Amino acid sequence: MTGLTSVGILGTGSQVPDNVVTNFDLEKRLDTSDEWIRSRTGIVARRIAADNEATSDLAIGAARAALDDANVSADEVDLLIVATCTPDRLMPATAVIVQAALGATKAAAFDLNAACSGFAYALDIATQALRGGAYRRALVIGAEVMSRTVNWNDRAVCVLFGDAAGAVVLGPVEKGGVLSSYLGADGAGANLLYIPAGGYREPNTPATLEANRNCMIMNGREVYRFAVQVMGEAVIKALSQCGLTPDNISLFVPHQANIRIIESAAKRLALPFDKVFINLDKYGNTSAASIPLALDEAVRAGRIHAGDIVVTVGFGAGLTWGANVIEWTAKGSSV
Ligand code: UT7
Repeated sequence: MTGLTSVGILGTGSQVPDNVVTNFDLEKRLDTSDEWIRSRTGIVARRIAADNEATSDLAIGAARAALDDANVSADEVDLLIVATCTPDRLMPATAVIVQAALGATKAAAFDLNAACSGFAYALDIATQALRGGAYRRALVIGAEVMSRTVNWNDRAVCVLFGDAAGAVVLGPVEKGGVLSSYLGADGAGANLLYIPAGGYREPNTPATLEANRNCMIMNGREVYRFAVQVMGEAVIKALSQCGLTPDNISLFVPHQANIRIIESAAKRLALPFDKVFINLDKYGNTSAASIPLALDEAVRAGRIHAGDIVVTVGFGAGLTWGANVIEWTAKGSSV
């Protein structure tokens, strides 16, 4: 990497809505059970945004916490990316709302939609942008209000998702940082997980709303099969790009969609489960927020230390996938 800057995570932050909805709460209004949800997914509860709370609100909270943690002020940020598939509005980008609220006046700001893989994508794009030296500090945020995308009568989908935001601040470091990323997409699977109406091909009308075409439709079994396969593959490819193997992993921070998917991936990578970070029991699947929220909680729980090799991997609608290999850098090691 001669001549190119190493780019590391200088700080992390997250924010979740206050409202906790447990499986037992869902049991009361849906033909489901805590036992089914827990045994099939590992999820016990999720956070649901208040009516007046949107993606940008959660993103702003997570971003402020990450800036604080990194000891970086908003006006030092050159690039701000919000990974989301639940933007406040179709236009303008949620990132500009966040930018204005933070006072990140120097930052270029845009949204990135790679669904649940959004954070993995955004981390790589921001790293590449900083590596060349054109930008010095980036805020990468994953934020979602997935609860607004689900049909609350569709038990096969609504029990899985929750709302949250997580953020990281990136900057140049002496060594280590984001070592490699591996991203992929296969649009042939676009109809396995999608929201039919509400874009400009099929704008919402009373008829689309009546038919719940504004809500997510998912082929759970196919997505499950895809996820199990792609997670292991993406991790191995990302690791091999920087000369590492699964044995080098200190902590695995996968997309928090389903405990069974994560167990399969860990098995495939021959990773002992004490090297896997799990918080999906508390939050369910928070799409692009899931990995940065998990990273932040792992840091706060003392599960990540300077020098650790932390590997993240996401998968989701698109189909898309992405893995990042990060050599964790010590606090205050930005150059
Ligand atoms: O970020 C990517 C997002 N997507 C995913 O990660 C989804 C990946 N897929 C999955 O996690 C799993 O496929 C699910 C958790 C969605 C479903 O688990 P499964 O073991 O594949 O269940 P299934 O879809 O095969 O359904 C089994 C049964 C069905 O009943 P019958 O047909 O066997 O009588 C469903 O109707 O479970 C029923 N079922 C439920 N029962 C109680 C589906 N949802 C529920 C529910 N409560 N919430």
